[in-house]
Amino acid sequence: MIELRGAAQVLRLPGEPYLRHDRAGELALEPGDLAVEAAEDAAIDATGCAVLPGFVDCHTHLPFAGWRADEYERKVTGVPYEEIARLGGGIASSARSLAAASDEEVLAQARTLAGELLAHGTTAFEGKTGYGLSRDGEARAARLGRELAAQVRQPMRLTGLFAHAVPPGFTADAWMDEAEALARECDVDALDIFVESVAFGNEHLARMGAIARATGRDLRAHSEQLSTLRSVPVALEWGARSVDHLSRMHPDDIAPLAASETAAVLLPGAELMNAEHTAPARELADAGAICVLATDLNPGTSPIASLPVIAGLAVRRYGWSVREALLAATLNAAWVLGWSGELGSLEQGKRADVLLLDGPAEHVPYRFGHNPVAAVFAAGELAWLRPDQAWRVRS
Ligand code: NIG
Ligand code: FE
Repeated sequence: MIELRGAAQVLRLPGEPYLRHDRAGELALEPGDLAVEAAEDAAIDATGCAVLPGFVDCHTHLPFAGWRADEYERKVTGVPYEEIARLGGGIASSARSLAAASDEEVLAQARTLAGELLAHGTTAFEGKTGYGLSRDGEARAARLGRELAAQVRQPMRLTGLFAHAVPPGFTADAWMDEAEALARECDVDALDIFVESVAFGNEHLARMGAIARATGRDLRAHSEQLSTLRSVPVALEWGARSVDHLSRMHPDDIAPLAASETAAVLLPGAELMNAEHTAPARELADAGAICVLATDLNPGTSPIASLPVIAGLAVRRYGWSVREALLAATLNAAWVLGWSGELGSLEQGKRADVLLLDGPAEHVPYRFGHNPVAAVFAAGELAWLRPDQAWRVRS
């Protein structure tokens, strides 16, 4: 048994599979103790600290190979995205890096990033294919995704983003035949598609919806990131588990999305780093959508691994309360991964994924850029401890 004693705040959520954002005020942050079933006995001095459920990052692009820092510098100094792409940048550049890297190189980088996620409080996450950009490349990405899941501390879901960019030599229509074959052949938990003027259209989203339904997977969509294509109603028609990005979503689509069980996954890291519009997150929350925050960790638009940083961005840029940000990074994120019965809140019977912060929960957004995570318990085991906080643990 691990006992966290004398916490200034313990975050408690209602025992439901998700909580619509107009009810975020129901999150309780009250002083208390928490007992965690564990193999080892330990007592933790939690005075002055917040105790939270582990964060869930439901949208990353792990595993990928290398980074694109040169491209980022060109982007911020004014080189248009089209030119970067014409010079071989963007998704194509990451696809080349993936193809050039050995399996072990890819996995080693991804394991390191999974460790970085853990140190920032992420105790469950999702990864995607999408940088394979060929039938073999995507099948390999799916295999590597599953190998990664077996090698990391956190439970990991894998999404087949088989329709990410149209590979050279294909039309979008023709590539969808390959994407369908990949969806049928590969071992993935969910299917995703990048709906964008430079990628796939609403008709391809509908087809991916049909493939997801036929193969018993959840449908997810990169939706309304750079332009307004009205892909949200199409995703809703196909019962998508989530629509992600939404920076340019049409105002008329807010109410139907908020009335559905499709989660609105907001990615303020990509909005910042890729100079995108700001999603109508305040409106979505007020309308009662199931709002979620994620890092979108990827080498192009969001090289950010810290959900505390993402929560800080959401509070500042969306005008969200701390409770709204915490709800979006815990229970509602677990809902997107189909895991809200197992994790995402501090409840008896759920996995003992617990965070000890070095201060109150309000410091998560306020001390922007600081990692507030003092200790991480994953399934009841101490998985990470910040050296300056080691004095809190007595075994
Ligand atoms: O979520 N939008 C498409 N996919 C990624 C970025 C891909 C990349 O640039 O590598 C995203 O932003
Ligand atoms: Fe993404």
